[in-house]
Amino acid sequence: MTKKRLYIETFGCQMNVNDTERIVAMLADIDYLSTDAVSEADLILLNTCSVRGGAEEKVYRRLENLRVFKRSKQGLVIGVGGCVAQQEGDELLRKLPWVDLVFGTHNLHLLPDLVRAAENGERRCETSFIDNEQRLDLFPPVGGVSRHSSFVTVMQGCDNFCSYCIVPYVRGREISRRSGEIIEEVERLSAAGVQEVVLLGQNVNSYGLKTEGEPSFAGLIRRIAAIDGIRRIRFTTSHPKDMSAELIACFSDVPKLCGQVQLPAQSGSNAVLKRMNRGYTREQYLERIAALKSARPGIAITGDMIVGFPGESEADFEETLSLMEEVRYIDLFSFVYSPRPGTKAAELTEEIGREEKLRRLDRLQELQRRITNEIQETFRGSLQTVLIEGEGKRAGQVSGKTESGRTVNLAGERSLIGRFADVRIIEVYQNSLLGELLQCREP
Ligand code: SAH
Ligand code: SF4
Ligand code: F3S
Repeated sequence: MTKKRLYIETFGCQMNVNDTERIVAMLADIDYLSTDAVSEADLILLNTCSVRGGAEEKVYRRLENLRVFKRSKQGLVIGVGGCVAQQEGDELLRKLPWVDLVFGTHNLHLLPDLVRAAENGERRCETSFIDNEQRLDLFPPVGGVSRHSSFVTVMQGCDNFCSYCIVPYVRGREISRRSGEIIEEVERLSAAGVQEVVLLGQNVNSYGLKTEGEPSFAGLIRRIAAIDGIRRIRFTTSHPKDMSAELIACFSDVPKLCGQVQLPAQSGSNAVLKRMNRGYTREQYLERIAALKSARPGIAITGDMIVGFPGESEADFEETLSLMEEVRYIDLFSFVYSPRPGTKAAELTEEIGREEKLRRLDRLQELQRRITNEIQETFRGSLQTVLIEGEGKRAGQVSGKTESGRTVNLAGERSLIGRFADVRIIEVYQNSLLGELLQCREP
């Protein structure tokens, strides 16, 4: 029997990327092979994001143009998962008659059943939450690994309820995986050749805080660092209020922990931070940044910023710009505030006009471009150790990352993939560096 084809599109954050890896592995077990060509697909899945209105609209637009595929191919199954699916549930089946199945963020394990049902013409939706540890036992493992860097989920969900954010509603309560299981997974990955792990969760640094007898996140990092074969550890995302002194200390005495941290501030104004329910002040945030910089000189700091939060005055916005000057993010992801259904901030009325929000976003992004370029410039001529992860942008190039997480392209053979290389940086761009190979390290 010829195998069926799965085409999956992923929107949103790394949690979704990681979930997609699980979905692909799970559906391979029921004989669906993945394809990059939507026209070949027997099953089309969208793994969706609803963090901002724009992200949600993108999903609806995509679903709208999938409608013609449904008409033109008999037996084609179309499914929606992820955060829009969690938020909308049954409504999706009702509004979009060409959608066959809907699965929520806690229901990945039910997907094979849903697909089988859809093959038999049954339209189903599963979005119930599992807000206990059982959720993680139902968590399908990632399939065959042939990569050099891998995500490892350490926790799921979020209990922070920042007033603008829909994530706690669509991902449910925070649950940490048992450390024993995490260690086992990292050992398995390491035995399969993985050299770098990226510890993943909405709020990784609150890992273990709710569970008796488990290590803290810092403790977990130290245990992972003790695993032979793992040479680099990164993590994302962390919340400033949970950035403990113990975790900061890891940056000074765990050499395998890479000098890179994503620590979103969201705003530089105390008044706005308070209304966002972020749980820290500008001063506390800057203290943590200073501690990180002293624990690991040259640490690359990235973050997220929201402009145009309800009631954000021009002075509040100026505080955001001045915070950026103090922190000097190497990259900053910036967003126009978007009201989300069911969140506290959606009830606030002092909405700022669209044009004003965009003007602020432009100013912020212009400042960030300058800062990024200045930091990138400091790489020129430097020596970097690069883990080569794949092919580069151009033919004959390979690509990898520095310890601080910057992308480097360099001329080189594919056989370099998976190796550590000493590289000199010969050109700098806003989003990447160009290097030349000096020598390749022994595997
Ligand atoms: N868990 C991560 C972020 C998840 S959402 C964390 O707390 O760091 C990713 C980013 O989207 C957030 O950091 C925030 O900057 C942005 N975001 C979330 N909700 C938003 C909204 N309603 N409007 C605009 N940006 C938003
Ligand atoms: Fe959203 Fe805040 Fe949780 Fe991040 S910490 S996912 S911004 S509620
Ligand atoms: Fe989007 Fe869901 Fe991630 S809303 S940012 S895909 S947790």
